[in-house]
Amino acid sequence: MKVSKLNSNHLQERCNWLNTPDVYLHMNMQYPITIEETIKWHERALFNSSRFDFAFEHQDIIVSMTGLTNIDTSNGLVEFYIMVNPETQGQGYGKITTEFTINYAFNNYNIHKIYLYTNNFNERANKLYEKLGFQLEGTMRKHKFKNGVLIDRCIYGLLKEDWIKQSYYETDIKLEF
Ligand SMILES: CC(C)(COP(=O)(O)OP(=O)(O)OC[C@H]1O[C@@H](n2cnc3c(N)ncnc32)[C@H](O)[C@@H]1OP(=O)(O)O)[C@@H](O)C(=O)NCCC(=O)NCCS
Repeated sequence: MKVSKLNSNHLQERCNWLNTPDVYLHMNMQYPITIEETIKWHERALFNSSRFDFAFEHQDIIVSMTGLTNIDTSNGLVEFYIMVNPETQGQGYGKITTEFTINYAFNNYNIHKIYLYTNNFNERANKLYEKLGFQLEGTMRKHKFKNGVLIDRCIYGLLKEDWIKQSYYETDIKLEF
């Protein structure tokens, strides 16, 4: 597996994934998501020091994209997101690329906590995060319109002090793993 900072070569794939209904359903985005918008978003993201976006490739296929957003070293917090290639979900890429990104975050930023939001019906994501030690910190009721319906959103948090006790904790971050 190879990891790199998200670059312009990844954008068409990113746009395709976000337009896949099963990915769109679980991401906090608004349609339409066009390639032109994605390119503009990336140009802004490159100059935004409060975020870092990754792309993971395995055997020349982009398998996952993760990111750290709202990097807030004053309060020691970052927000995490992930989407796995719709063609390669359920093959372990979500777990391994989340582990990498958490280790990267705790080793590279002066933070004590990673948090994230899920749609409450996103069982795959909730199970993944719980498996990695995230704790459900609350459910925000009727918190977002998705496809015209008000849905509940969950907020999960992972403390560094809990992460470093786990077998997933790694300090030697390799860009090929
Ligand atoms: C959620 C997502 C990141 C999981 O990645 P993935 O590569 O499909 O998952 P993995 O193969 O790494 O599986 C990791 C864990 O997720 C859970 N999981 C995966 N597929 C699942 C399914 N169909 N049903 C329930 N849990 C599932 C399991 O706990 C699994 O661990 P296990 O295999 O040891 O039981 C991925 O499916 C995805 O990108 N979904 C669309 C976008 C999204 O939901 N992003 C997260 C927004 S908060």
